[in-house]
Amino acid sequence: MKSESQVLVRPARNLRGAVTLPGDKSISHRYAMLAAIADGPSRIENYSTGADCASTLQCLRSLGVKWEREQNDKEDAGAVIKMQGSGLSLAAPTQPLDCGNSGSTIRMLSGIVAAQNFSSEMAGDDSLSRRPMERVIVPLIAMGAKIRSQNGRPPLQITGARLKGIHYHMPVASAQVKTSLLFAGLLADGETVIEEAIRTRDHGELALRAFGATVDRKGDREGDRKGNEIRIRGGQRLRGIEARIPGDISSAAFFLCAAALFPGSHLIITDLLMNPTRSRLLDILVQLGLRISITQLEEVHGELVGTVQAEGGSLKGLTVTGADAAALIDEIPVLAAIAPFTEQGIEVRDAKELRVKESDRIASIAANLRAMGAQVEEREDGLKIPGLQKLHGAELESFGDHRIAMAFSIAALRADGETLIRGSQSAAISYPAFFATLDRLVER
Ligand code: S3P
Repeated sequence: MKSESQVLVRPARNLRGAVTLPGDKSISHRYAMLAAIADGPSRIENYSTGADCASTLQCLRSLGVKWEREQNDKEDAGAVIKMQGSGLSLAAPTQPLDCGNSGSTIRMLSGIVAAQNFSSEMAGDDSLSRRPMERVIVPLIAMGAKIRSQNGRPPLQITGARLKGIHYHMPVASAQVKTSLLFAGLLADGETVIEEAIRTRDHGELALRAFGATVDRKGDREGDRKGNEIRIRGGQRLRGIEARIPGDISSAAFFLCAAALFPGSHLIITDLLMNPTRSRLLDILVQLGLRISITQLEEVHGELVGTVQAEGGSLKGLTVTGADAAALIDEIPVLAAIAPFTEQGIEVRDAKELRVKESDRIASIAANLRAMGAQVEEREDGLKIPGLQKLHGAELESFGDHRIAMAFSIAALRADGETLIRGSQSAAISYPAFFATLDRLVER
């Protein structure tokens, strides 16, 4: 997204109120893609309002899938999507599939289109065109797909083929890659086995099961964050579902971190995704000093959902490394943005993946923190941000990156003076109503 709009964020006194978030982005992509290749209709409530998930829907339409959106009038509620499944085969697109800014769309959908009996091109915006795709290209080619790229980057020219199952050990911890291969494995001959050294978010596995597929997981105990082996047999049919997507915990992260900044804050988030492969943030925030309680926990289509109440306290400090860095990959920008206000600071290691997200997030975070007057040590695979710092308002860049725009509007709440965030419209990639909701929750 280009830097066209800007938002002015004034310091806040407190954060109070209740919020329900539009559906989780990761689950929205997966449910849409699986509903598209299922038998029969699906009805998905609280579908993410983000532009990324709209890119997935547009690509599916170009692949002949019929769907309609019942618009919701509430500012912060997700959409209702009704989709007619096409069965396991889609229709040849007449133009390139436009994935916009969405790495999830291009990587996960490539696993489905690689197994179709037609050719397609998948492309995206400038940011997406710089992002690495070998991580899906290499294993999909090993399954029999034909894929051409621009030196491992989009656009991708995919010639559909009859795929065969593989046994693949993933060199990069990536749930997008895992899901892409599970989707390809569903459409392939034989069995596909995927091994991951660090357990990544498991929405792909859970979504496949929700749509009726058998997916086996052999690994450590449930909830363990270490290794994982997943198996799927090709040729299984899916059936459409009725579902409501739980609120996006990566979007909630901004409000939770804002609450953490003010000792008098009180925040309630209802219907929030609590999947253990995503909720590491809550443990980390408790470790930092936020008081959190969880009620009304239930499981829907394999996904845990609950209500979170959070109250601010004083913030200690912490180090994020190893499996935690992977589990918190989308939340590190906002954790880093509140780091100067902690007592001992925050150090992030083993997070080199941040360099190949929608922007080079390590560089974006360091640049914005410095612009606000903070000291920060930038490293190849992370950052070290000392605590007990005072920040001043500044003119900041979003670098066209939704999570950077939102993260620094949270830091701005505790800065002295006003902060201008350029390119603030990039927040719409995952959460269009973010600034309006933040405004409603803060007390000034
Ligand atoms: C996602 C996985 C993560 C994450 C992205 C969404 C997913 O990316 O950063 O926002 O839905 O599977 P990687 O798979 O590249 O780690």
